[in-house]
Amino acid sequence: MASIRFDNVQRVFRQNGQEFVALKDVTIEVRDREFVAIVGPSGCGKTTCLRMAAGLEHPSAGTVSVDREVVRRPGPDRAVVFQAFALFPWKTVWDNVEFGLISLGVDAGERRRRIEHYMGLMGLTGYERAFPHQLSGGMQQRVAIARAYVLDPKVLLMDEPFGALDAQTRVVMQEELVRLARQNPRTVLFITHAVEEAVYLADRIVVMTGRPGTVGEVIDVKTVREAEQWDRHNRIEDVMDQPSFVHLRSHVWKLLRDAGGGTLH
Ligand SMILES: Nc1ncnc2c1ncn2[C@@H]1O[C@H](COP(=O)(O)OP(=O)(O)OP(=O)(O)O)[C@@H](O)[C@H]1O
Ligand SMILES: [Mg+2]
Repeated sequence: MASIRFDNVQRVFRQNGQEFVALKDVTIEVRDREFVAIVGPSGCGKTTCLRMAAGLEHPSAGTVSVDREVVRRPGPDRAVVFQAFALFPWKTVWDNVEFGLISLGVDAGERRRRIEHYMGLMGLTGYERAFPHQLSGGMQQRVAIARAYVLDPKVLLMDEPFGALDAQTRVVMQEELVRLARQNPRTVLFITHAVEEAVYLADRIVVMTGRPGTVGEVIDVKTVREAEQWDRHNRIEDVMDQPSFVHLRSHVWKLLRDAGGGTLH
């Protein structure tokens, strides 16, 4: 079991000697094995929320908890994928993926089994001995995702993980992530600017509004997805053609337009 809860979270930052409220009254629940996407205007505090769940940042008031325990620091139960791939440039692909497993004390046989499994799923087989600079951006991001998945974390925290990818690689990654998420559901908090991506991937979408950042509306996608059987379609473009998909997408866009307080990308 792993759930994430933000309870009346506030975050005040100091900028140019003045205090400003970046997040106010944020209450979000990500249930066990639920995929929740956060969308919202630039600067509304999405990354700050994710960093608080990761234990890299702390609320000024309210609490962030994972499995009912208040998050105080990073831990192996939560893996983070950042937008910038954050691979070790001096380590090979294999060593990058293995690094976290060694720190967790996972034995060599199990390490090999898990790495081979996820490298295969991410289409990285054959690149084990390559260094990050020898890979394309999309491949590097797949290494970063494999590195998070091999840890078998209860919680995956992803901050615009596909933001830097070209359109085609992005689609491949989205389809792979949906496949992984349906085969092997995890508790996922996923930040994106892309409305279609949120509707395609998430069980629920949290739409944030800006200045100060807070939760505007929460949209249940899973009920629609299951009722309309989107999973019959393997390709993202076929899902996106569904009238129920188009309807949800326009609804989220409208909320974002009304959200104000920042720019939309
Ligand atoms: N360490 C910090 N010190 C001061 N201000 C900060 C700090 N971190 C974030 N902020 C401010 O808090 C607000 C929210 O930032 P955050 O990065 O969480 O936004 P975001 O929703 O992720 O934006 P984007 O969509 O552009 O990535 C911004 O106004 C930012 O300038
Ligand atoms: Mg951000």
